[in-house]
Parts: sequence; C-alpha cells; structure tokens
Amino acid sequence: MMSDERDRADIESLLAAHGQQHLLAFWAELDASQRQQLIGQIRLAHVEQIGLRHRAARRSNDWSALARRATPPVAFRLNGASEISIDAARTAGDAALRRGEIGAILVAGGQGTRLGFAQPKGKYSIGPVSGASLFQILFEKLLAVGRRYEIPVPLYVMTSDATHAATEDYLEAQRYFGLETNCVCLFCQGVMPAVDATTGKILLSSKSSLALSPDGHGGMLAALANADCLADMQWRGIKYLFYFQVDNPLVEMCDPALIGYHILSGSEMSTAAVAKRDADERLGNIVTIDGRTRIIEYSDLPEDVAKQQNLDGSLRFWAGNTAVHVFDVAFLDRCSRSDDALPFHTACKKVSCIDELGNRVESSEPNAIKFERFIFDLLPAAERAIVVEADAARTFAPVKNAPGEKRDSPDTCRAAMIALHREWLESAGAKVALGTPVEISPLFALDAAEARAKIEPGIVFDKPTYLR
Ligand code: UTP
Repeated sequence: MMSDERDRADIESLLAAHGQQHLLAFWAELDASQRQQLIGQIRLAHVEQIGLRHRAARRSNDWSALARRATPPVAFRLNGASEISIDAARTAGDAALRRGEIGAILVAGGQGTRLGFAQPKGKYSIGPVSGASLFQILFEKLLAVGRRYEIPVPLYVMTSDATHAATEDYLEAQRYFGLETNCVCLFCQGVMPAVDATTGKILLSSKSSLALSPDGHGGMLAALANADCLADMQWRGIKYLFYFQVDNPLVEMCDPALIGYHILSGSEMSTAAVAKRDADERLGNIVTIDGRTRIIEYSDLPEDVAKQQNLDGSLRFWAGNTAVHVFDVAFLDRCSRSDDALPFHTACKKVSCIDELGNRVESSEPNAIKFERFIFDLLPAAERAIVVEADAARTFAPVKNAPGEKRDSPDTCRAAMIALHREWLESAGAKVALGTPVEISPLFALDAAEARAKIEPGIVFDKPTYLR
C-alpha cells in the first residue's frame, strides 16, 4: 500500500469512531502534498477530544450560583493600608529586575478581528504623533527597562499560525527595535479546529485543510513548554515572568511594584487590576470564590451582584482584569505538566468554510463554535494569588475595537497616551498648549520622574511633538 493510503486507513477508523469521516470526503481529488497536509492537521486536531471538549464547555460553570459566594479578592489597593508598603514592594521588584530574575512574555497570536486590521495587531500604528506601532512602543519600553536596570530582560513573544510569519518579517526588518536578538524568542501557539454550531462536525476551510484558529492566549502554557521556553527561562535564571498583551501600549512594563508585591506576598500568579468605573464595565471581574482567586467574565456576572456596593457607595466587586500578570516560572512549569490545567471556552463565531459539495460558504450569521483557552483560568490553580490595583488612566488603554468606536478603540488609546504624556510634561514645569498632541518615546522617558529630569521648566509645546 502507498504510504498516504496507509495514513488514510489509520485515520479513517479514528474519524469514523468520532463521527468526523467527512474530513476525508475529497481525498480522491487531492495530490500527495495536500493529503499529507490534511493528515497532519487531523493528527494535530485531537479529533478524539473534540466531542468531549464541546460537551465540557457547554457544561460550563453556573456563574450565577458561584458569584453569590464570591468575595472581593486579596488586593493591594491604591491609597489603601496594607502590610506591605508600596516602597517595600518597589524595592523588592527593583532588586529582582537588577538580579536578572525577570523575563517578559508578550502574547501576540490573536487575530484582532474587532479592530479589523488584516495584519498582526502589533504592527498597528498607534503613536499619536510618531505613528509608532504597538510593537515599537512595547519593545522600546522593554529596551528602556533593560537600560534602567543595566541588564536586558529576555522577551518571549507568542505568535500563531495567523501572525507568525508577518510578525517575524516585521520584527527582523525593524531589528527588534534595538533589543538584543539573543534575548528575544518567538514561539508559535497551537491551533484548534472550529466545529459546525449545529452538528458538532469539524469544518473544512478547503478540500485539504481544516478550519483552524489559534487556541486562545491560554495556549501559551502548552506552547511555552513545547518550545522549550520554560527550560530556557530556568537556564537563564529567570524566576518570574511579566505577562502583557499586544494591545495595551500604556502597560507599565515590568512594573517593579507589581513584581515586588508578588515576591513579598509569596504569590504564584499576580494580576494588575483597575477599579471598574461602573458595574457594567466590560472587564473580567477578579473575585475570590471558596478561597481561590478567579475571573468571572463581565457577561457571566449577574447584574445584581455586579451592582453590590460597599458602605461608601463604591463597587464591592471593583477589580477589573487588565491582563497584566506576574507568574512564578515554577508555577507555570507545574501547570504545564497537566493537559487539563486550563479548560476550553467556546464562542459562536462566523467561520468561512466549504460545504459537503466543496462549495464555499460565507455565513452572515455565526455558524461555528471555536475553542479557546484563557490564561487567567490558571488563577485558581495558584496556591496564592494576589491583585495589585493600578491607575487605569495611566496604565490601561487597550486597542480592541475599530477606529471611531467609543470604547477601547485606537482613538481612545491615543487620547490616553496624549493625556499621560501631557501630565508628565506639566509635572516637569512645561506648558502644553490646549489641544496640542504630545508623545514621549519610552527611550526618552519611561515615567514622569525621567521626564522631569530631562525637561526644562517653562518650555512651551505649542505644536505636535514627539520626544525621543
Ligand atoms: P483578545 O482576546 O483581545 O483577542 O486578545 P484578539 O484576537 O486580539 O482580538 P479579537 O477578539 O479577534 O478582536 C488579547 C491578547 O491575547 C492575544 C492577542 O494577540 C492579544 O494580545 N491572543 C489572543 C493570543 O496570543 N492568542 C489567541 O489565540 C488569542
């Protein structure tokens, strides 16, 4: 028997056992390389687990009942009293950074569908004056942190099949924005097949390929282990990993206070949170349930619970997830040894596919179930997890939605950058004319104190200015 026929025979019985034989419907029309591609994808798709995952995701938590047992999380609040002072936390974080115990991880495998940008989101031009891309700003921040602590912070960048080649080409062309190449590691996350929303059958995107998409930012756990990045971290002496996402150029990169609180409180996974502005703000809610920290997505938190107030009228469930975390590398290593450390979530989305006759189907309504893992689902696995409050206006401006949208759009992000940099300049005694956009490169100043050291009091900015 020819080898592709042998492969077909092996795989046919597996598919038949799980009601997915249709994946080979066009076998006779495929050439040898197309057959190999299809077989490879079917092997990677863990067909035997698709049905289980689908059923498990449908039996999802009864958040309404869980939320009623929730209490606010263990947190270090801005202006709140705590047993660890902010100065002590910063000193501990500074020391860990200086000892080279911190690595950084950027997850950049998402498809950015809401933004509607066909390239990897990191290439999106966001600098209000410079036009710098998200990648440029984030990489320059990391470069500046390395200069401040006189030791480079190794960066692990997670891409996906959807973003890998374009990200690598771009970063190479830009020479990694000055980061040392031996301190940057790109690795690719896994994929999951999409299934038909009514039949549960895996969709084909063509006669020789499954409809595959990235397996969520939680895919980071398995991908880090598969790419030997966890071993690389241990070899480099990295004990803590600072996690951030590609869409927030305001992130306080390697925030020493967050890192310090993490270390001093013996946390295994820590999260920067912002105080929600109102009960229905679209942020994941960080809570404690039965002694474990968890995130309840905004759509799962019952309205009456979301609206609960403290005596002073503030929200009881105040902690909104910014998707900035610090992990113990040992914790990630422990979790990566179990295939079930992270559950799959399902989402009903529009997926382009072919039908049983091979005709293309572009559905106008969501037609498919996609499976994704979320990294924040590791929180309950942590023996100790803490939350550190961050100032939303200064540290959090994600680019999620298309230009022109009122929330989390490029426009709101640019406005937040301008407001912050104006504040830094004004704190240095400069004057910024009303309505004048100003932007500060991380290589000029990483924070207000660095800006004050470089700006002459009294200087006037009355036209768009980029300080670099
Ligand atoms: P989002 O959840 O906002 O998704 O990702 P997205 O793909 O960027 O945008 P939409 O939902 O399609 O509009 C948050 C972060 O997680 C990364 C993204 O690149 C972003 O940094 N991510 C998301 C991954 O790395 N892999 C994924 O599979 C999904």
